[in-house]
Amino acid sequence: MDLINKIKTTQAYINYSRMWPYVKPYWFRALLAMLICIPIGSLDAVIALSLKPYMDLVMVEKTVESPWYIPFGIVAFTSIQGLLNYTATYLNTWVGGKITNDLKMSLYKKMLTFETGYFDRKKSGDIVFRFNNDADVACSGLLDNLKTFVSRIFSSISLVCVLFYNSWQLALIAIIILGCAFAPLANIRKRIKSVMDKSVTAGSAVITAYNESFAGNKTIISYNLANQQEKKFKDILSNIFTLKIKMIQRTSWLSPMMHVIVSIGIGIAIGYGSHLILTHKITSGNFVSFITALIMLYQPVKNLGNNFNSVQFSFMAIERIFDVLNLKPKIQDKPNAVELKGIQRDIEFKNVNFEYLKNKPVLKNINLHINKGEAIAFVGNSGGGKSTIVSLIPRFYDIKSGSITIDGIDIRDYTLHSLRQNIAVVFQDNFLFSGTIRENILLGNKNASEEQINQAVKMAYLDEFIATLKDGLDTQIGERGILLSGGQKQRVAIARAFLKDAPIIILDEATSALDNKAEAIVQKAIDNLMKDKTVFVIAHRLSTIQNADKIVVINQGEIVETGTHTKLLNIPNGAYKALYEMQFKKQTAGV
Ligand SMILES: Nc1ncnc2c1ncn2[C@@H]1O[C@H](COP(=O)(O)OP(=O)(O)O)[C@@H](O)[C@H]1O
Ligand SMILES: [Mg+2]
Repeated sequence: MDLINKIKTTQAYINYSRMWPYVKPYWFRALLAMLICIPIGSLDAVIALSLKPYMDLVMVEKTVESPWYIPFGIVAFTSIQGLLNYTATYLNTWVGGKITNDLKMSLYKKMLTFETGYFDRKKSGDIVFRFNNDADVACSGLLDNLKTFVSRIFSSISLVCVLFYNSWQLALIAIIILGCAFAPLANIRKRIKSVMDKSVTAGSAVITAYNESFAGNKTIISYNLANQQEKKFKDILSNIFTLKIKMIQRTSWLSPMMHVIVSIGIGIAIGYGSHLILTHKITSGNFVSFITALIMLYQPVKNLGNNFNSVQFSFMAIERIFDVLNLKPKIQDKPNAVELKGIQRDIEFKNVNFEYLKNKPVLKNINLHINKGEAIAFVGNSGGGKSTIVSLIPRFYDIKSGSITIDGIDIRDYTLHSLRQNIAVVFQDNFLFSGTIRENILLGNKNASEEQINQAVKMAYLDEFIATLKDGLDTQIGERGILLSGGQKQRVAIARAFLKDAPIIILDEATSALDNKAEAIVQKAIDNLMKDKTVFVIAHRLSTIQNADKIVVINQGEIVETGTHTKLLNIPNGAYKALYEMQFKKQTAGV
C-alpha cells in the first residue's frame, strides 16, 4: 500500500516537472513576476521594523524633534508595494493566459488523435471538463497562488527576522507555535483527493445534462420529459452541493484552527513579553515592533493555509491533464506506414473478427472480396453488424483478428491520413457544421475551384434548391444544419463527398431517414456519386441495391448469403428472398 502511494507521489512530481515545457517559453516573465513578489512580501517587515525606533526615540525617550519621515516612509513603502503588486498581477495574468492556451492547444490536439472508441466511452461533459476546465484550474490557480505564495513566504520570512531582531526568546516561542499551526497542512492532500475526483465527475454531469437538453429538446418535448429531466438535474446539483460541503468540511477548519493557534502564540508572547519589559530585557520599542510583526505575520500565515488548498487543486488538475496527455491513441500510424494512392485492384476482408467490448464478438469470421469499381451491398436485420463492417474500412475501429487489405496491403500499414483521404463516407445522419452551405461542402476539398463546387452541387441535385435561396451557397444553415430538411442535409453531405472525389465510397443507409420524394432525389444524387467508384452500400430499401455486383446478407455478425440479386432470389427459403418478399409485401400493402 505504502509502495503504491510512493509510486503515485513520484508520478505526481514527474507530472509537475512536465509542466516545464509549457512554462519555458515564458520563463523570464514568470520568474520576474515571482521576484517582484519578494519585495512585496518583505516590505511588510519594514513597517513593523520602523516601529521600534519610533516607539523608543519618539514616544519613550522623546529625543527626535521632527518624526515626519516615519509617516512619509510608510506611505512611500505602501506606494511601492502597490506598484509592484500591479506589475506582478499583470505579469502573472499574461504568463498564466499564455500557458493556459498552450495547454488547451496540446489537449485539443491530443483529443483529435483519439479513436472513435474513446469518444464512444466518454460523455460530452467529461470532454469539456477534462480538456477545458482542468487547464483553467491548473494554470490560473497555480500562477495566482504562486504569486501569493511567494509574497507571503517572503513576508513571513522577513517578519520572522523582525521578531528575532527584537527578542530571540519571544521569537522562538512564536516560531514553535507557528510550526504547530502549519502541521495539519501536511496531509491535507490525501484528505481532499477523493472528494476532488468526485467533484470533477459531478461537474461534468452538469455539462452533459445541458448538452443533452439542447440536442434532445424535441425528444424531451414530445415525450413530456421535462419533469424527469428536472429531477435528474436536481440530483446532479444536490450531488455537487454535497461534495462542496464535504470539501469545506475537510478544508475550511484549517484556517480558523490556525487562527486559534496563532492567537495562543500572541497571548503567550504578550504575557512573556510584558515580563521581559518589566525586567528590562527588552525595550518598549522592541515589544511594540515585535507584536506588530507577529500580528502582521498572522495574515500571511492564514493565507498560506488557504493558498495551500487551491495550490493542491491546481496540482490535481495538472495530474488529470497529464493523465490525458499520457494516453496513447489506440489507432495510430505504424512507423513504416505507406501512403495509399488510390485503389488499383481490390479490397479484401480475410477472417475478420471484431468486438466493441471484450469478449462480446460483433463480427465473426467475415470474408469478403471486392474488385475496383464494383459495388457491394450489405443487407440484413438491424443490429446485425452492417455499419460495423463498413466502419472498419476507414479504421474508425481496428479489427481483433484477421485482415482487411487494399491492393494486398493491410489497411493498418497505410497512413491513417492517406487511407481516409481515399474514402468518402455518407451516413444516415451526417454532421454538418454551423456555417454556410459552401463551407460545409468545401470540407470535402478546401482547395476546390468555384467550377468544381458548382459541379458537385449539380451532381448532388442541390442546384435547384440553392437557386431559391437569397444568399445561395452562402446561406447559414445553423448548428448541425438545423435549418435544412433531411433531404437537403443529405445532399449537402453528398456534395461534400463529391468534392472529396475519393475512389472508395461508403454509404450507410444514406436515404433511410427520408420520405419517398426526398429519397428519390437523394438516390439520384447517390447514383451520380457511385459512378466509377468502389462502393460499399448499406440500404434499407432493397430496390436501391438490386444492381449491386454483390449482395451480402449479414445476420448476427455473420455472412449468411452472398451473390447477385437474381442468384440470391433463387435460393429456396433464402434469407435474402425472405427479406425481399417481406419488403415487397409491405410496399404493396402500403400503397
Ligand atoms: N459503438 C458501439 N459500442 C458498442 N457496441 C456497439 C457500438 N456500435 C454498435 N454496437 C453493437 O454492435 C452490433 C452491430 O451494430 P451495427 O453494426 O450498428 O448493426 P447494423 O448496422 O447492422 O444495424 C449491435 O449489437 C450494436 O448494439
Ligand atoms: Mg447500421
